Amino acid sequence: MYQSRISGLGKYLPENVVTNKDLSKIMDTSDEWIQERTGIRERRHIRKGSEDTTASMGAAAARIAIERAGIQTEEIELILFATLSPDYYFPGSGVLVQELLEIPTCPAMDIRNQCSGFIYALSTADQFIKTGMYKNILVIGSENHSGGLDMTTRGRGVSVIFGDGAGAAVITREENPERGVLSSHLHSEGKFAEELSLIGPSTNRWVPEILEANDPSDESYFPFMNGQLVFKNAVVRFSEVIMEGLQANKLSPEAIDMLIPHQANLRISQFVQKKFGLQDHQVYNNIQHYGNTTAGSIPIALTEAWEEGQVKEGDLLVLAAFGSGFTWGSAIIRW
Ligand code: ACO
Repeated sequence: MYQSRISGLGKYLPENVVTNKDLSKIMDTSDEWIQERTGIRERRHIRKGSEDTTASMGAAAARIAIERAGIQTEEIELILFATLSPDYYFPGSGVLVQELLEIPTCPAMDIRNQCSGFIYALSTADQFIKTGMYKNILVIGSENHSGGLDMTTRGRGVSVIFGDGAGAAVITREENPERGVLSSHLHSEGKFAEELSLIGPSTNRWVPEILEANDPSDESYFPFMNGQLVFKNAVVRFSEVIMEGLQANKLSPEAIDMLIPHQANLRISQFVQKKFGLQDHQVYNNIQHYGNTTAGSIPIALTEAWEEGQVKEGDLLVLAAFGSGFTWGSAIIRW
């Protein structure tokens, strides 16, 4: 069996910065409310009319990751694309990235696990590498939330939190058993599916039905979040799945050099930090600048931490996520 390691990282954020003050001009909210509850100061939104899409942002991040991995795009043998905001209802965005990167043919798969999408994709890549099936896998997390949010006061509980952006990682075969992804741990609990969801349009509620109803008060095509329930479950599941990962590797929390949590909400990250007794420099947070970019958040944060020199060879890295599904997961990595 082989190990897998992250050999290249990249990120892409749309240039359009939307501050809390900008939002307060179009809905009843304030910089103070948003910062106090979420830690977010600004996020990126694709500018209307721009050519950025979920797939194109993913491809832009991927080009950087592939270059940093020191390989050619033709060497990518599998694309795993995590998103909740694909370009099309079908096909998935993975095939669009394959075309944008001009890879003649290769398998491409979309992963539908929202905030946990990157961890699910990384874990899937790890399995394909371990069995020896592939040597280089491209894993992408990308989201275009802004166009689908309710940007009125009605939607403020959700829309102030989310931002657009993409991150990518090349996952490569590694011969050293002590390096790379040591383990990954995945979970879901579908009984909470509708507590953080976008129900319509879907096969449960097809577009013709929505058009026929022509009901402006219909909120089913905007994301819904039971914020307090999400918060309560997130802090428990984050802690559990980090502990599960550490125990699987016979490690204690003191072994953690850097925790990169899904950037859900600064208050959730701070809760987890306290629980594990970690110092500020051991937990990477950039939600202040990008908001919650769902499947994009971990690869964007990991890329930024690496670019800043905060991830060094030999470090023990813990990635952890919780989100819609509910789904949650962790990955323990020796860099
Ligand atoms: N600006 C101003 N006021 C607001 C806003 C806003 N953007 N949004 C909601 N409010 C108001 C509400 O209308 C409500 O007013 P009322 O008391 O007059 O009815 C008041 O603020 C309190 O609303 P709550 O929803 O109870 O606010 P809460 O303190 O729970 O904070 C939040 C909401 C930040 C979403 C919180 O529940 C939370 O942190 N939840 C965790 C979920 C989360 O972070 N999800 C991230 C995405 S999911 C994921 O990645 C896992």
